[in-house]
Amino acid sequence: MTLHRITLNDGADLDGFRRAVRRLIADELAPQHVIFTITDEPDLFGHESEGEAPPVSLPRALGDMIGLVVCHRNPERYALLYQLVWRVLNGERELLDIPSDPLVHRLDLMARAVRRDLHKMHAFLRFRRVGGEHLERFVAWFEPEHFILEAAAPFFVDRFRSIEWSILTPLGSLHWDRETLVLGPSACREDAPTEDGFEAGWLGYYESVFNPARVNPKAMRAEMPKKYWRNLPESAAIAGLIQTAPQRVEQMIEQESTMPTKRKPERALDAMWDQEPKSLSALNAVIAEAGPLVPGATQAVFGEGPAHADIVFVGEQPGDQEDLQGRPFVGPAGKLLTKALKEAGIDRDKVYLTNAVKHFKFEQRGHRRIHSKPTAGEVKHYRPWLMKELALIRPKLIVALGATAVLALTGKQTPISRSRGRAMFGDVNGYITVHPSYLLRLPDEDTKRQAYEAFVADLSHIRDLAKADLKTGELPLAAE
Ligand code: URA
Repeated sequence: MTLHRITLNDGADLDGFRRAVRRLIADELAPQHVIFTITDEPDLFGHESEGEAPPVSLPRALGDMIGLVVCHRNPERYALLYQLVWRVLNGERELLDIPSDPLVHRLDLMARAVRRDLHKMHAFLRFRRVGGEHLERFVAWFEPEHFILEAAAPFFVDRFRSIEWSILTPLGSLHWDRETLVLGPSACREDAPTEDGFEAGWLGYYESVFNPARVNPKAMRAEMPKKYWRNLPESAAIAGLIQTAPQRVEQMIEQESTMPTKRKPERALDAMWDQEPKSLSALNAVIAEAGPLVPGATQAVFGEGPAHADIVFVGEQPGDQEDLQGRPFVGPAGKLLTKALKEAGIDRDKVYLTNAVKHFKFEQRGHRRIHSKPTAGEVKHYRPWLMKELALIRPKLIVALGATAVLALTGKQTPISRSRGRAMFGDVNGYITVHPSYLLRLPDEDTKRQAYEAFVADLSHIRDLAKADLKTGELPLAAE
């Protein structure tokens, strides 16, 4: 009998393989009479001329295995899978339940390798921001072992539905424009940006969540092979952290022995931490570990700016863009704030920007995530962290942007119209003004312009207050 040749496309050609299996089974062609070859020049019309054969019913577990193994890089993958399909359809229906069978064993190993590769892509891929103020895209470079791009796509579309992104790999690329996913050609590392403005943030975050007592370089390498390190901003910190881990463990043990054993009941803060954070990065690690109070946020968004800034601006909560980028005030309200600060002669990089609530809360409407105002209970939940943050920074002036910030700083609901202007937050000088998103919501251009000018005037006043020799009070801030 002559050999029947099946040519499939390069990569994971699941559709092509399915079509081939239907035809081969309909023609009763046993695996020994079939050879599978792979081409990188697809024959666009070949399949249609053969005509569609009737569907083949396979056990679900076999369907799952096929979905994974077609992604494997081994050129024998289709031939091995067809052997398995043939045997299952010819009297060995329970074959997959026999892990010791050499064919099942081999295919199982291949499926696991693909699953592992998918996991690594989900965990270690990092988007970098490209483009200007108006055209914002995110690009990531990743080097998968296998042809997993299409299989990994739903994860990224689900998670990053509302931003435009591209994932570039040597085995093809994916491009999402908030509506459509397009599969593109292979790319090289040079096509992707190597860093963005938040590189330092990733590093700081990684350092803050790194637990020296748990360090196990062998396990780290097994879980995160070195080839992925190049693409991870935080990898710059790994070698140093491993090297200094033993000293840091000793320090931790020493610190622990000096900790008071009895907690004072009146201090709510003490109850929250086994070891009270002594730095902003330690505090942020606590917040990150606690996770969102209301599920949904991508990540905690920490305060940003010099650790001992003169002025701290407190907003409400991160928005959609802040949640995705992991930085405060980078969305539309943040851009307006940055512009107003500049007009008032305040350098955004010299002040500290933070939020009363550290996670984005939203309502999903179709593809859009609509901001949802935090409740008083939620503000209260995050308040000890804000207080600790301020106590660590010890600013000269605290600025409350909007009513949620005032509630967080004073514990009281106060309309901005009545409290706008100078204030005291505990013993610290403060200032209350509107939230920049209020300006964005105003209906007509005239009102908007006037409100914006008043906001810039407030910021100019804030600039002067911070320059003046203000008497600073005792921290931590005792509100109420
Ligand atoms: N609004 C806020 O209150 N904070 C942000 O970080 C962004 C928008």
